[in-house]
Amino acid sequence: MPDTANTAMQTMTLDLGDRSYDIHIGEQLLDTVGEFLTPLLRAKRVFVVSESTVMTHQGDRLKAALSDSGIEAKWFILNPGEATKSTAQYESLVSGLLAAGIDRSDTIIAFGGGVIGDLAGFAAATVLRGINFVQIPTTLLAQVDSSVGGKTGINMPQGKNLLGAFYQPKAVIIDISTLETLPRRELLAGYAEVVKYGVIDDLDFFSWLEDQGPQIVDREAGAAGTSARAQAIAHSCAAKARIVAEDERENGKRALLNLGHTFGHALEAECGYKGILLHGEAVAIGMIMALDASTRLDLAKIEDLERVRSHFTAVGMKTSAREVGRAMTADALMTHMTKDKKVEAGTIGFVLGGIGSAAIHHGVDLEIIHAVLQDSL
Ligand code: NAD
Ligand code: GLY
Repeated sequence: MPDTANTAMQTMTLDLGDRSYDIHIGEQLLDTVGEFLTPLLRAKRVFVVSESTVMTHQGDRLKAALSDSGIEAKWFILNPGEATKSTAQYESLVSGLLAAGIDRSDTIIAFGGGVIGDLAGFAAATVLRGINFVQIPTTLLAQVDSSVGGKTGINMPQGKNLLGAFYQPKAVIIDISTLETLPRRELLAGYAEVVKYGVIDDLDFFSWLEDQGPQIVDREAGAAGTSARAQAIAHSCAAKARIVAEDERENGKRALLNLGHTFGHALEAECGYKGILLHGEAVAIGMIMALDASTRLDLAKIEDLERVRSHFTAVGMKTSAREVGRAMTADALMTHMTKDKKVEAGTIGFVLGGIGSAAIHHGVDLEIIHAVLQDSL
Protein backbone atom coordinates (compact mmCIF):
# COMPACT_ATOMS: atom_id res chain seq x y z
CA MET A 1 0.00 0.00 0.00
CA PRO A 2 1.20 3.54 -0.65
CA ASP A 3 2.48 5.19 2.48
CA THR A 4 0.62 8.44 1.77
CA ALA A 5 -2.98 9.03 2.71
CA ASN A 6 -4.30 11.98 0.75
CA THR A 7 -3.68 14.70 -1.80
CA ALA A 8 -2.12 17.16 0.66
CA MET A 9 1.19 18.45 -0.62
CA GLN A 10 4.18 16.38 0.25
CA THR A 11 7.89 16.72 -0.25
CA MET A 12 10.46 13.96 -0.42
CA THR A 13 14.20 14.22 -0.93
CA LEU A 14 16.29 12.31 -3.42
CA ASP A 15 19.44 11.78 -1.39
CA LEU A 16 22.58 12.31 -3.48
CA GLY A 17 24.84 14.11 -1.02
CA ASP A 18 25.52 17.69 -2.10
CA ARG A 19 23.39 17.11 -5.22
CA SER A 20 20.31 16.06 -3.23
CA TYR A 21 17.04 17.66 -4.24
CA ASP A 22 13.41 17.85 -3.26
CA ILE A 23 10.47 16.40 -5.14
CA HIS A 24 7.29 18.34 -4.32
CA ILE A 25 3.96 16.68 -5.13
CA GLY A 26 0.51 18.19 -4.78
CA GLU A 27 -2.44 19.89 -6.43
CA GLN A 28 -2.23 23.42 -7.87
CA LEU A 29 1.50 23.74 -7.11
CA LEU A 30 1.96 25.38 -10.51
CA ASP A 31 0.03 28.44 -9.36
CA THR A 32 2.44 29.09 -6.50
CA VAL A 33 5.55 27.75 -8.18
CA GLY A 34 7.53 30.86 -7.24
CA GLU A 35 7.53 29.72 -3.62
CA PHE A 36 9.49 26.62 -4.60
CA LEU A 37 11.68 28.31 -7.20
CA THR A 38 12.72 31.51 -5.44
CA PRO A 39 15.00 29.85 -2.83
CA LEU A 40 16.76 27.96 -5.64
CA LEU A 41 17.42 30.85 -8.02
CA ARG A 42 20.75 32.68 -8.04
CA ALA A 43 19.37 35.28 -10.45
CA LYS A 44 15.65 36.09 -10.47
CA ARG A 45 15.41 34.95 -14.06
CA VAL A 46 14.48 31.63 -15.65
CA PHE A 47 14.71 30.17 -19.16
CA VAL A 48 11.57 28.09 -19.63
CA VAL A 49 11.73 25.28 -22.19
CA SER A 50 8.33 23.91 -23.17
CA GLU A 51 6.25 22.92 -26.18
CA SER A 52 3.13 24.28 -27.82
CA THR A 53 0.57 21.74 -26.55
CA VAL A 54 1.66 22.11 -22.94
CA MET A 55 1.65 25.89 -23.29
CA THR A 56 -1.87 25.84 -24.73
CA HIS A 57 -3.20 23.88 -21.77
CA GLN A 58 -1.03 24.94 -18.85
CA GLY A 59 1.17 27.83 -20.01
CA ASP A 60 -0.92 30.70 -18.66
CA ARG A 61 -0.73 29.24 -15.16
CA LEU A 62 3.07 29.17 -15.20
CA LYS A 63 3.28 32.64 -16.77
CA ALA A 64 1.02 34.10 -14.07
CA ALA A 65 2.85 32.33 -11.24
CA LEU A 66 6.28 33.53 -12.39
CA SER A 67 5.00 37.06 -12.86
CA ASP A 68 3.36 37.04 -9.40
CA SER A 69 6.72 36.12 -7.90
CA GLY A 70 8.64 38.77 -9.83
CA ILE A 71 10.65 36.15 -11.72
CA GLU A 72 11.66 37.24 -15.22
CA ALA A 73 11.07 34.49 -17.78
CA LYS A 74 12.41 33.88 -21.27
CA TRP A 75 10.40 31.31 -23.24
CA PHE A 76 11.56 28.62 -25.66
CA ILE A 77 8.48 26.91 -27.07
CA LEU A 78 9.22 23.88 -29.24
CA ASN A 79 7.05 21.49 -31.24
CA PRO A 80 5.41 18.64 -29.30
CA GLY A 81 6.43 15.07 -30.01
CA GLU A 82 9.38 12.69 -29.90
CA ALA A 83 10.93 14.28 -33.02
CA THR A 84 11.82 17.27 -30.84
CA LYS A 85 14.43 15.14 -29.03
CA SER A 86 16.77 15.56 -32.02
CA THR A 87 20.26 16.94 -32.56
CA ALA A 88 18.76 19.69 -34.74
CA GLN A 89 16.31 20.81 -32.04
CA TYR A 90 19.01 20.53 -29.39
CA GLU A 91 21.37 22.77 -31.40
CA SER A 92 18.60 25.25 -32.09
CA LEU A 93 17.63 25.37 -28.40
CA VAL A 94 21.18 25.82 -27.15
CA SER A 95 21.81 28.52 -29.78
CA GLY A 96 18.66 30.28 -28.60
CA LEU A 97 19.68 30.09 -24.95
CA LEU A 98 23.12 31.54 -25.74
CA ALA A 99 21.68 34.24 -27.99
CA ALA A 100 19.34 35.23 -25.15
CA GLY A 101 22.37 35.72 -22.91
CA ILE A 102 22.05 32.77 -20.53
CA ASP A 103 24.81 32.70 -17.91
CA ARG A 104 25.79 30.40 -15.07
CA SER A 105 23.62 32.20 -12.54
CA ASP A 106 20.51 31.38 -14.58
CA THR A 107 18.11 28.45 -14.26
CA ILE A 108 16.43 26.40 -16.98
CA ILE A 109 12.89 25.16 -16.33
CA ALA A 110 11.76 22.02 -18.16
CA PHE A 111 7.98 22.43 -18.43
CA GLY A 112 6.34 19.48 -20.17
CA GLY A 113 6.45 15.73 -20.59
CA GLY A 114 9.43 13.44 -20.91
CA VAL A 115 10.40 14.83 -24.30
CA ILE A 116 10.90 18.34 -22.94
CA GLY A 117 12.43 17.08 -19.68
CA ASP A 118 15.02 14.98 -21.50
CA LEU A 119 15.92 17.69 -24.04
CA ALA A 120 15.92 20.66 -21.66
CA GLY A 121 17.85 18.60 -19.10
CA PHE A 122 20.49 17.75 -21.68
CA ALA A 123 20.72 21.41 -22.74
CA ALA A 124 21.12 22.33 -19.05
CA ALA A 125 23.83 19.68 -18.63
CA THR A 126 25.85 20.96 -21.55
CA VAL A 127 25.34 24.68 -22.13
CA LEU A 128 28.21 26.59 -20.49
CA ARG A 129 29.21 23.16 -19.02
CA GLY A 130 26.15 23.09 -16.79
CA ILE A 131 23.28 25.35 -15.79
CA ASN A 132 20.91 24.73 -12.87
CA PHE A 133 17.59 23.27 -13.94
CA VAL A 134 14.22 22.44 -12.45
CA GLN A 135 11.72 19.88 -13.71
CA ILE A 136 8.01 20.75 -13.83
CA PRO A 137 6.58 17.58 -15.41
CA THR A 138 3.10 17.66 -16.95
CA THR A 139 2.49 14.05 -18.04
CA LEU A 140 1.95 11.05 -15.77
CA LEU A 141 4.98 9.37 -17.33
CA ALA A 142 7.18 12.36 -16.54
CA GLN A 143 5.72 12.76 -13.04
CA VAL A 144 6.43 9.16 -12.03
CA ASP A 145 9.61 8.48 -13.96
CA SER A 146 11.47 10.76 -16.36
CA SER A 147 11.61 13.97 -14.27
CA VAL A 148 13.25 12.16 -11.35
CA GLY A 149 16.74 10.70 -11.43
CA GLY A 150 18.72 12.86 -13.82
CA LYS A 151 18.70 10.90 -17.06
CA THR A 152 18.76 13.50 -19.83
CA GLY A 153 19.30 13.10 -23.53
CA ILE A 154 18.22 13.12 -27.12
CA ASN A 155 17.79 10.59 -29.91
CA MET A 156 20.30 9.83 -32.66
CA PRO A 157 19.65 8.35 -36.10
CA GLN A 158 21.16 5.14 -34.66
CA GLY A 159 18.60 4.93 -31.85
CA LYS A 160 16.74 6.43 -28.94
CA ASN A 161 18.46 8.31 -26.09
CA LEU A 162 21.93 7.53 -27.44
CA LEU A 163 23.31 11.03 -26.69
CA GLY A 164 22.86 12.22 -23.14
CA ALA A 165 24.14 12.83 -19.64
CA PHE A 166 23.32 11.99 -16.06
CA TYR A 167 22.53 15.48 -14.77
CA GLN A 168 20.31 16.04 -11.76
CA PRO A 169 17.75 18.85 -11.45
CA LYS A 170 17.71 21.19 -8.45
CA ALA A 171 14.06 20.31 -7.77
CA VAL A 172 11.09 18.48 -9.25
CA ILE A 173 7.73 20.23 -8.86
CA ILE A 174 4.80 17.93 -9.62
CA ASP A 175 1.36 19.51 -9.92
CA ILE A 176 -1.05 16.61 -10.38
CA SER A 177 -3.78 18.98 -11.57
CA THR A 178 -1.85 19.43 -14.84
CA LEU A 179 -2.98 15.87 -15.68
CA GLU A 180 -6.55 17.14 -16.04
CA THR A 181 -5.77 18.19 -19.62
CA LEU A 182 -3.68 15.15 -20.51
CA PRO A 183 -5.37 12.85 -23.09
CA ARG A 184 -6.49 9.50 -21.66
CA ARG A 185 -4.16 7.61 -24.00
CA GLU A 186 -1.17 9.50 -22.53
CA LEU A 187 -2.44 8.91 -18.98
CA LEU A 188 -2.62 5.17 -19.66
CA ALA A 189 0.86 5.15 -21.20
CA GLY A 190 2.26 6.79 -18.06
CA TYR A 191 0.40 4.30 -15.91
CA ALA A 192 2.56 1.50 -17.35
CA GLU A 193 5.56 3.05 -15.58
CA VAL A 194 3.57 3.13 -12.31
CA VAL A 195 2.80 -0.59 -12.60
CA LYS A 196 6.49 -1.17 -13.32
CA TYR A 197 7.44 -0.18 -9.74
CA GLY A 198 5.08 -2.81 -8.36
CA VAL A 199 6.34 -5.54 -10.65
CA ILE A 200 10.01 -4.77 -9.94
CA ASP A 201 10.04 -5.19 -6.17
CA ASP A 202 6.78 -4.18 -4.53
CA LEU A 203 4.04 -6.82 -4.57
CA ASP A 204 1.90 -4.85 -2.07
CA PHE A 205 1.91 -1.83 -4.36
CA PHE A 206 0.96 -4.00 -7.33
CA SER A 207 -1.95 -5.46 -5.34
CA TRP A 208 -3.06 -1.94 -4.39
CA LEU A 209 -2.90 -0.92 -8.07
CA GLU A 210 -5.07 -3.88 -9.05
CA ASP A 211 -7.72 -2.33 -6.82
CA GLN A 212 -7.12 1.37 -7.51
CA GLY A 213 -5.80 1.33 -11.12
CA PRO A 214 -9.14 1.88 -12.87
CA GLN A 215 -9.79 5.12 -10.98
CA ILE A 216 -6.17 6.27 -11.23
CA VAL A 217 -6.53 6.36 -15.03
CA ASP A 218 -10.08 7.76 -14.96
CA ARG A 219 -10.10 11.55 -14.81
CA GLU A 220 -13.87 11.43 -14.27
CA ALA A 221 -13.44 9.48 -11.02
CA GLY A 222 -13.68 12.62 -8.88
CA ALA A 223 -11.97 13.09 -5.54
CA ALA A 224 -11.33 9.36 -5.08
CA GLY A 225 -9.53 9.25 -8.43
CA THR A 226 -7.47 12.34 -7.63
CA SER A 227 -6.51 10.91 -4.27
CA ALA A 228 -5.54 7.54 -5.75
CA ARG A 229 -3.54 9.27 -8.51
CA ALA A 230 -1.69 11.42 -5.97
CA GLN A 231 -0.86 8.37 -3.87
CA ALA A 232 0.33 6.40 -6.89
CA ILE A 233 2.55 9.28 -8.05
CA ALA A 234 4.04 9.80 -4.60
CA HIS A 235 4.69 6.09 -4.12
CA SER A 236 6.31 5.87 -7.57
CA CYS A 237 8.54 8.90 -6.93
CA ALA A 238 9.58 7.47 -3.56
CA ALA A 239 10.48 4.17 -5.24
CA LYS A 240 12.46 5.91 -7.95
CA ALA A 241 14.22 8.19 -5.46
CA ARG A 242 15.21 5.16 -3.36
CA ILE A 243 16.60 3.29 -6.36
CA VAL A 244 18.46 6.29 -7.84
CA ALA A 245 19.96 7.20 -4.46
CA GLU A 246 21.35 3.67 -4.28
CA ASP A 247 22.59 3.50 -7.88
CA GLU A 248 22.64 6.86 -9.68
CA ARG A 249 24.69 5.71 -12.69
CA GLU A 250 22.87 2.45 -13.35
CA ASN A 251 25.64 0.09 -12.37
CA GLY A 252 23.21 -2.20 -10.56
CA LYS A 253 19.74 -1.79 -9.11
CA ARG A 254 18.69 1.13 -11.33
CA ALA A 255 18.79 -1.19 -14.33
CA LEU A 256 15.65 -2.84 -12.88
CA LEU A 257 13.78 0.30 -13.97
CA ASN A 258 14.36 -0.91 -17.50
CA LEU A 259 11.85 -3.73 -16.98
CA GLY A 260 10.08 -4.21 -20.31
CA HIS A 261 12.23 -1.56 -21.98
CA THR A 262 14.50 -3.81 -24.07
CA PHE A 263 11.41 -5.30 -25.71
CA GLY A 264 9.59 -1.96 -25.64
CA HIS A 265 12.37 0.02 -27.32
CA ALA A 266 12.45 -2.56 -30.12
CA LEU A 267 8.69 -2.15 -30.63
CA GLU A 268 9.00 1.64 -30.59
CA ALA A 269 11.86 1.59 -33.09
CA GLU A 270 9.91 -0.69 -35.40
CA CYS A 271 6.86 1.60 -35.19
CA GLY A 272 8.94 4.69 -35.95
CA TYR A 273 8.25 7.08 -33.00
CA LYS A 274 5.33 8.64 -34.87
CA GLY A 275 2.56 8.06 -32.38
CA ILE A 276 1.62 4.57 -33.57
CA LEU A 277 2.93 3.28 -30.25
CA LEU A 278 3.69 5.56 -27.28
CA HIS A 279 6.69 4.86 -25.05
CA GLY A 280 4.54 3.74 -22.11
CA GLU A 281 2.39 1.55 -24.38
CA ALA A 282 5.53 -0.14 -25.66
CA VAL A 283 6.79 -0.61 -22.09
CA ALA A 284 3.50 -2.27 -21.07
CA ILE A 285 3.72 -4.78 -23.93
CA GLY A 286 7.43 -5.18 -23.16
CA MET A 287 6.64 -6.00 -19.53
CA ILE A 288 4.28 -8.75 -20.64
CA MET A 289 7.00 -10.09 -22.95
CA ALA A 290 9.53 -10.00 -20.08
CA LEU A 291 7.11 -11.90 -17.84
CA ASP A 292 6.41 -14.38 -20.63
CA ALA A 293 10.16 -14.97 -21.06
CA SER A 294 10.47 -15.31 -17.28
CA THR A 295 7.84 -18.06 -17.13
CA ARG A 296 9.58 -19.94 -19.95
CA LEU A 297 12.85 -19.68 -18.01
CA ASP A 298 11.24 -20.76 -14.72
CA LEU A 299 11.89 -17.33 -13.22
CA ALA A 300 8.20 -16.51 -12.75
CA LYS A 301 4.93 -18.32 -12.22
CA ILE A 302 2.40 -18.32 -15.05
CA GLU A 303 -0.05 -16.74 -12.56
CA ASP A 304 2.19 -13.65 -12.37
CA LEU A 305 2.11 -13.23 -16.14
CA GLU A 306 -1.67 -13.62 -16.20
CA ARG A 307 -2.13 -11.26 -13.25
CA VAL A 308 -0.22 -8.40 -14.89
CA ARG A 309 -1.85 -9.07 -18.25
CA SER A 310 -5.32 -9.02 -16.63
CA HIS A 311 -4.55 -5.77 -14.87
CA PHE A 312 -3.38 -4.01 -18.04
CA THR A 313 -6.48 -5.30 -19.84
CA ALA A 314 -8.72 -4.13 -16.99
CA VAL A 315 -7.47 -0.53 -17.34
CA GLY A 316 -7.69 -0.64 -21.14
CA MET A 317 -4.08 -1.21 -22.21
CA LYS A 318 -2.72 -3.34 -25.02
CA THR A 319 -0.69 -6.37 -23.94
CA SER A 320 0.61 -7.84 -27.21
CA ALA A 321 2.40 -6.66 -30.32
CA ARG A 322 -0.44 -7.98 -32.50
CA GLU A 323 -2.79 -5.34 -31.02
CA VAL A 324 -0.53 -2.51 -32.24
CA GLY A 325 -1.93 -2.88 -35.74
CA ARG A 326 1.37 -2.75 -37.57
CA ALA A 327 3.10 -5.56 -39.45
CA MET A 328 6.29 -6.51 -37.58
CA THR A 329 8.55 -9.55 -37.55
CA ALA A 330 10.35 -11.19 -34.65
CA ASP A 331 13.61 -11.00 -36.64
CA ALA A 332 13.29 -7.22 -37.07
CA LEU A 333 12.55 -6.79 -33.36
CA MET A 334 15.57 -8.95 -32.45
CA THR A 335 17.78 -6.73 -34.62
CA HIS A 336 16.63 -3.63 -32.73
CA MET A 337 17.34 -5.34 -29.42
CA THR A 338 20.94 -5.99 -30.29
CA LYS A 339 21.41 -2.22 -30.74
CA ASP A 340 19.90 -1.33 -27.36
CA LYS A 341 21.96 0.73 -24.88
CA LYS A 342 21.69 -2.15 -22.43
CA VAL A 343 23.83 -4.43 -24.60
CA GLU A 344 27.08 -5.03 -22.69
CA ALA A 345 30.05 -7.00 -23.99
CA GLY A 346 27.81 -8.27 -26.77
CA THR A 347 25.06 -9.70 -24.54
CA ILE A 348 21.62 -8.20 -23.96
CA GLY A 349 20.70 -7.61 -20.32
CA PHE A 350 17.07 -8.60 -19.67
CA VAL A 351 15.11 -7.66 -16.53
CA LEU A 352 13.25 -10.85 -15.66
CA GLY A 353 11.40 -12.41 -12.72
CA GLY A 354 7.95 -12.64 -11.14
CA ILE A 355 5.90 -9.84 -9.58
CA GLY A 356 8.06 -8.19 -6.92
CA SER A 357 11.21 -10.15 -7.72
CA ALA A 358 12.85 -8.71 -10.85
CA ALA A 359 16.58 -9.17 -11.50
CA ILE A 360 19.00 -8.59 -14.38
CA HIS A 361 19.89 -11.62 -16.48
CA HIS A 362 22.66 -11.80 -19.06
CA GLY A 363 23.24 -14.66 -21.45
CA VAL A 364 19.55 -15.45 -21.89
CA ASP A 365 18.87 -17.99 -24.66
CA LEU A 366 17.86 -15.76 -27.59
CA GLU A 367 15.80 -18.58 -29.10
CA ILE A 368 13.42 -18.16 -26.14
CA ILE A 369 13.28 -14.38 -26.66
CA HIS A 370 12.55 -14.94 -30.35
CA ALA A 371 9.71 -17.32 -29.44
CA VAL A 372 8.24 -14.76 -27.00
CA LEU A 373 8.25 -12.12 -29.72
CA GLN A 374 6.77 -14.50 -32.26
CA ASP A 375 3.92 -15.44 -29.92
CA SER A 376 3.11 -11.78 -29.26
CA LEU A 377 2.82 -10.96 -32.98
P1 NAD B 1 5.70 13.71 -24.28
O1 NAD B 1 6.61 14.63 -23.60
O2 NAD B 1 5.76 13.62 -25.76
O3 NAD B 1 4.20 14.07 -23.85
C1 NAD B 1 3.14 13.28 -24.34
C2 NAD B 1 2.05 14.12 -25.01
O4 NAD B 1 1.31 14.79 -24.00
C3 NAD B 1 2.55 15.19 -25.95
O5 NAD B 1 1.69 15.24 -27.07
C4 NAD B 1 2.42 16.47 -25.15
O6 NAD B 1 2.24 17.59 -25.98
C5 NAD B 1 1.20 16.19 -24.32
N1 NAD B 1 1.12 16.86 -23.03
C6 NAD B 1 2.08 16.97 -22.07
N2 NAD B 1 1.58 17.49 -20.95
C7 NAD B 1 0.27 17.76 -21.20
C8 NAD B 1 -0.79 18.28 -20.40
N3 NAD B 1 -0.61 18.56 -19.10
N4 NAD B 1 -2.00 18.42 -20.98
C9 NAD B 1 -2.19 18.07 -22.29
N5 NAD B 1 -1.25 17.53 -23.06
C10 NAD B 1 -0.02 17.37 -22.51
O7 NAD B 1 5.86 12.20 -23.76
P2 NAD B 1 6.05 11.53 -22.33
O8 NAD B 1 5.28 10.28 -22.39
O9 NAD B 1 5.82 12.48 -21.23
O10 NAD B 1 7.60 11.20 -22.32
C11 NAD B 1 8.16 10.31 -23.26
C12 NAD B 1 9.63 10.60 -23.35
O11 NAD B 1 10.22 10.42 -22.06
C13 NAD B 1 10.37 9.67 -24.30
O12 NAD B 1 11.23 10.43 -25.10
C14 NAD B 1 11.16 8.77 -23.37
O13 NAD B 1 12.37 8.33 -23.95
C15 NAD B 1 11.42 9.69 -22.21
N6 NAD B 1 11.70 9.01 -20.94
C16 NAD B 1 12.74 9.44 -20.22
C17 NAD B 1 13.02 8.87 -19.00
C18 NAD B 1 14.15 9.39 -18.17
O14 NAD B 1 14.45 8.78 -17.13
N7 NAD B 1 14.77 10.48 -18.53
C19 NAD B 1 12.19 7.86 -18.51
C20 NAD B 1 11.10 7.44 -19.26
C21 NAD B 1 10.85 8.05 -20.49
N1 GLY C 1 13.54 5.39 -16.60
C1 GLY C 1 14.65 4.60 -16.21
C2 GLY C 1 15.60 5.32 -15.33
O1 GLY C 1 15.42 6.46 -14.99
O2 GLY C 1 16.57 4.76 -14.95
